[in-house]
Amino acid sequence: AAPRVAIVGATGAVGEALLDCLAARRFPIGELRLLASPRSAGRTLPFRGKEVAVEALTERSFEGVDLALFSAGSGISKRYAAAAVQAGAVVVDNSSAFRMDPDVPLVVPEVNARAIEAHRGIIANPNCVAAIATVALAPLHRAHPIRRLTMATYQAASGAGAAAMEELRQSTAAYLRGEAFEPKVLPHPYAFNLFSHNAEMDPESGYNGEELKVVAETRRILDVPELPVSITCIRVPVLRAHAMALSVEFDAPVAVEEARALLEGAPGLRLVDDRARNHFPMPSEASGADDVLVGRLRRDLGDPSGRTLALFVAGDQLLKGAALNAVQIAERLLRR
Ligand code: A2P
Repeated sequence: AAPRVAIVGATGAVGEALLDCLAARRFPIGELRLLASPRSAGRTLPFRGKEVAVEALTERSFEGVDLALFSAGSGISKRYAAAAVQAGAVVVDNSSAFRMDPDVPLVVPEVNARAIEAHRGIIANPNCVAAIATVALAPLHRAHPIRRLTMATYQAASGAGAAAMEELRQSTAAYLRGEAFEPKVLPHPYAFNLFSHNAEMDPESGYNGEELKVVAETRRILDVPELPVSITCIRVPVLRAHAMALSVEFDAPVAVEEARALLEGAPGLRLVDDRARNHFPMPSEASGADDVLVGRLRRDLGDPSGRTLALFVAGDQLLKGAALNAVQIAERLLRR
């Protein structure tokens, strides 16, 4: 029988993308239960041509559920995932709650699908930057082990949720009308601006929580526990696709042509690398696309040894960075 599926956080930005992915990929669904906060109870959301009622999440929401896709923040995951597992569901959790738990696989199917097999009821979906970056890094890393990574990110509003996307729209409109706008969701003006990622700052190290997550998760997904990573995460006024500049040092010199060939045939990737037309990965072309875009492939002049390559990557934060990856994990579960 087709699995009975629950979506926790169905009314959020990722929740909406989950519904889109499940429909677009014709994921088999016996019954669909949409869960959110009591504020949303009674609303309906369209799915496959029907309106489905949203229910308030409780411990009893998971009776008879086979697959629970969580995307309502880590507090909700910590509080309710156990109830879902208890009820017999497998949880695919989009929050950071369990990502570093050694008993919970952290999975990007193109990179480490086999890790799914060890699950004990919960599988973690990675941070959006870690998921998008590792899709691009894995084909290179398989051929030539990565020894060091430098990353600078250009992150979209969607990672901060539907309300942040709306704040970007409204603050931009206000700016263009010449009106003042007081930010409520994000800590700084977003229109025609950019700022250091709004995750909580660790005053000791000077790194914010986003940067620390990306480093830890990238190491775990690539299975290089001590990988040295240099990182700066920045929010840019883009709605839903993250971009990132990567500088990748390998254990030996790697020719640009070889790297290009490795990326060209790799799953989940599309090479966008047209020097003649100055056409490289852009959020505008990554938005709505399942594939992660990779290009601007070149030798990194900062390392005269030839062991370091530079590249630029863009991926849809709500798709490969969240909902699509979760649905791909669910598809693998279904096949087993
Ligand atoms: P709601 O719309 O009812 O607030 P986003 O990341 O886009 O902000 O979405 C967050 C998601 O998490 C929404 O679906 C939101 O539902 C849901 N959510 C927030 N708080 C709770 C809660 N206490 N119980 C269940 N769902 C929640």
